[in-house]
Amino acid sequence: MKTAVCPGSFDPVTNGHLDIIKRTSKMMDKVIVAVLYNPSKNPLFSVEERITLLREVTKDIPNIEIDCFSGLLVDYVKEKRINAIVKGLRAVSDFEYEFQMALMNKKLNPEVETIFMMTSSEFSYLSSSIIKETFKFKGCIDGLVPDKVKKALEKKYE
Ligand code: PNS
Repeated sequence: MKTAVCPGSFDPVTNGHLDIIKRTSKMMDKVIVAVLYNPSKNPLFSVEERITLLREVTKDIPNIEIDCFSGLLVDYVKEKRINAIVKGLRAVSDFEYEFQMALMNKKLNPEVETIFMMTSSEFSYLSSSIIKETFKFKGCIDGLVPDKVKKALEKKYE
């Protein structure tokens, strides 16, 4: 049984994240989407809200589990007996940071593998931050996030 983790902040989940999660679920027996609990960041959505949104927008994927973690990702990977970390790569700008993290994770635990998946081109410019900023100033985000996420953003900025 091969299990992958898609870790991230997911503040909030975008169609770019969903693209990577769905494609990973087709390659692996099980995919765990793990939300980082990081109190030092100042997120728009609480971890509980992010988990609820993720559960709603992935409910049609049978082999998925939504969870959260704190501390080091490699410790979570070991605890859950995960075979691979799957990260989406959008552009060259992502590469440097992702490469650094993958190597550090490998140093911390040589058994941990990181797999990079190229994002689909239509989502290559997308991030949770760009969605929040665009929405805050009343820009159109249709097609970039699931409807449930758009509704949750509307509620936040009511
Ligand atoms: O969606 P994000 O914010 O780009 O996700 C980053 C995340 C959560 C994957 C990364 O920050 C992470 O793995 N954090 C946990 C702490 C850790 O293990 N850091 C790596 C050591 S270099």
